[in-house]
Parts: sequence; C-alpha cells; structure tokens
Amino acid sequence: MERTFIAIKPDGVQRGLISEIIARFECKGFKLVAIKLVVPSKSFAQKHYHDLKERPFFNGLCNFLSSGPVLAMVWEGEGVIRYGRKLIGATDPSKSEPGTIRGDLAIVVGRNIIHGSDGPETAKDEISLWFKPEELSNYTSNQEKWVYGVN
Ligand code: GTP
Ligand code: MG
Repeated sequence: MERTFIAIKPDGVQRGLISEIIARFECKGFKLVAIKLVVPSKSFAQKHYHDLKERPFFNGLCNFLSSGPVLAMVWEGEGVIRYGRKLIGATDPSKSEPGTIRGDLAIVVGRNIIHGSDGPETAKDEISLWFKPEELSNYTSNQEKWVYGVN
C-alpha cells in the first residue's frame, strides 16, 4: 500500500496543532505507520530540502526546520501521496483553499506548518531519510474493511 512522509514543522508543533492535523489524516481513513518528535540538525534539514538549495529562502527554511521539534510521520493508504497534498493545500497559505490544513491554519508561506512528499520517489526517499525500516509498523487496522469495503 502507498505511503507518504508528512511532517508537522516547528511552527505547527509550537502552535499546538498536532492533534488537529493528525485528526484530518486519521478521519479521512489513512493509517499512521510511523511517528516521532525530533529536532533535526541544520545539515539534516538541508538534506531534506536538497531540491531547493538554489532558492533564496533555502538557508532561512533550513534554519527554521531545525529550530525546534518536528513531528515526523508516515501515513499509508490508497492515493495517500496525492491526496495528502490536497489535504495540506497550496504551498502559500494565502492561496490555499479553505478546508485545507494550510488554508485553515496558516497565513504566510514561510510558516506553513506542514510538509508532505510531492510524489512517489520523494516519498520513498523522505521516508528512508527520516525513519529506519524497523520504525515503520506493518499492521492491519480494524477499520480497513470499512474504509475500503474489502473482506
Ligand atoms: P513542503 O511540503 O514543505 O515541501 O512544501 P511544498 O512542497 O508545498 O513547497 P516547496 O517544496 O516548493 O517548498 C518547501 C517549503 O519552502 C515550503 O513549504 C515553504 O515553507 C518554503 N517556501 C517555498 N516557497 C517559499 C517562498 O517563496 N518564500 C519562503 N520564505 N519560503 C518558501
Ligand atoms: Mg515540497
């Protein structure tokens, strides 16, 4: 089953939005398979955002990501990579739709509270950057037959 990497950034953690954000993924029917609170080092943040290293905001972004606890998670479900991005909303919260996490809970692009992998390759790379294989739980949730309608 498809998996994605989702992280609540230091602003989301400090603002007490962990339960609100987790609820949106959980209520949708996605399954949590890994979770931990970590303060990433600056060099780890640079690895995570390596695709953006030429951008003018790269240094500030990496300083910010390493400025406090980040809630790192792996969520599993059909279409979770693409739909996770939909739940999160557009990068700039001033343009995110109401009803999305960023649309409802953030205002500026530099403090947009949450990260989600943007495709299957990125998801694979980010999951293995943030988690060891043994930190991922493989289990069947009781609700799967109700969420997907399979026996
Ligand atoms: P992530 O899920 O965090 O990767 O966001 P994204 O995929 O929606 O956007 P992208 O990967 O392009 O940018 C990564 C992060 O860099 C964004 O979430 C923002 O926090 C930050 N960022 C992107 N564009 C800007 C910008 O123009 N200015 C500033 N200050 N930050 C930006
Ligand atoms: Mg991105």
